[in-house]
Amino acid sequence: MPLVTFINSMNTSNTIDVPVGETLMRAAVNSNIDGILGECGGACCCATCHVYLDSTSAPDVPRVGEMEQQMLDHVAEPRRDDSRLACQLVVDSSMEGLRVTIPQTQL
Ligand code: FES
Repeated sequence: MPLVTFINSMNTSNTIDVPVGETLMRAAVNSNIDGILGECGGACCCATCHVYLDSTSAPDVPRVGEMEQQMLDHVAEPRRDDSRLACQLVVDSSMEGLRVTIPQTQL
């Protein structure tokens, strides 16, 4: 299982094993990672799973899809070039070592 590191706004990191095929949002929620809410359950309609992706840690992460692109306009913290919705990132083996930063707030 790929190891993924979540870094919160206090710069505390948690590294978890994520099963291949699991979304980053579901893995975070199941592991009680604070700061990723996933209120819509992964339907790409709440923007409460916003993360900042360190693309250097996993350069082959799929690009932003059309629905995700639209929802990223509704995140609570500033949208950046590295903004992603964790529910739209399905983990595969190429994401080993991925690092994401959780914004201070999702609401
Ligand atoms: S969980 Fe709602 S947009 Fe990701």
